[in-house]
Amino acid sequence: MATPAVPSPAGPRGAVGPGEGLPAVFVTRPIPDAARARLERSAQVDVFDGADAPTPAELVSRCRGVVGLLASSADRVDGALLDACPQIAVVSNLAVGYDNVDVPAMTRRKVPVGNTPGVLTDATADLAFALLLATARRVVEARDAVLAGRWKSWDPGFMLGMELSGSTLGILGAGRIGRAVARRALGFGMRVVAWSRSARAPLGPGLEAVELVGFDELLETSDVVSVHVALAPSTVHLVGARELALMKRSAILVNTARGAVVDQAALVEALRTGSIGGAGLDVTEVEPIPLDDPLLSLANCVVLPHIGSATTVTRVAMAELAVDNLLAGLSGEVLPACVNPEVYGTAR
Ligand code: GLV
Repeated sequence: MATPAVPSPAGPRGAVGPGEGLPAVFVTRPIPDAARARLERSAQVDVFDGADAPTPAELVSRCRGVVGLLASSADRVDGALLDACPQIAVVSNLAVGYDNVDVPAMTRRKVPVGNTPGVLTDATADLAFALLLATARRVVEARDAVLAGRWKSWDPGFMLGMELSGSTLGILGAGRIGRAVARRALGFGMRVVAWSRSARAPLGPGLEAVELVGFDELLETSDVVSVHVALAPSTVHLVGARELALMKRSAILVNTARGAVVDQAALVEALRTGSIGGAGLDVTEVEPIPLDDPLLSLANCVVLPHIGSATTVTRVAMAELAVDNLLAGLSGEVLPACVNPEVYGTAR
């Protein structure tokens, strides 16, 4: 991309003027080489290379003077950050979810926010299915049994799990990832039901068999409930004690969306008391999950370290799209994947 152009003065805040050199950007996690090299051709790039994500204080200090921020879901990007660093003109989030960004605060300041929809759908759906299978067929428990020398003989009653074929999968949230999980489940011979506030049946090609049902009905009738809603004020603890109590005692909960969609204390209780059968979680309310968290001591719970989109192909595609968003913002152009397009509204 060419050296950033001067943005429309009435448009979202953007870009540096000619002669001021390349704009400075801060990238909070290392990104794949090709995307980084492309960014470096148009910007002065500072990449945080700590073992952990930057602390809030580190984020503020590294953002001083930068025009673009490429953040991850581990970074809190809010009005306080923009107050401390008012020259930030574009925020590009290396994730499809953007609950870590206070979007209204960005919009008030006319800062466009980008995300990475679409490119991670299949990888995340695959991981949801991996958790579904691991939990339904007790894969981690079984492996632990082998390592602990508890595999004594072939025993017809050992490590019995749930048969997927003929079981019902309930999809909470019928967006791209939910629908991709539904496709996989149909291939496994599952019946699939879905709940969505906005989607209408049919959910798309190949998904004619998926029935849209009410929220409580989904919880009551599903053998596996898979969570695919975005985290927003209306979805915090969408699955809490009441919802877990509605689920079958044998049911499995899978969450690859955001930890706070599930009330984790209520989930621990439900797993401990056998009010549900198991859980497979790629996300938790606090990440990384503390090692003394009770979830980690439960045999019927598999916890993964938020790796839904973690394939090489997908992480490359996410970085490319995040860089596209950042460069567009630096040039005062519309972001290819913008979550607050209203910044380009009437003022432009
Ligand atoms: C990952 O959690 C994402 O939102 O992309």
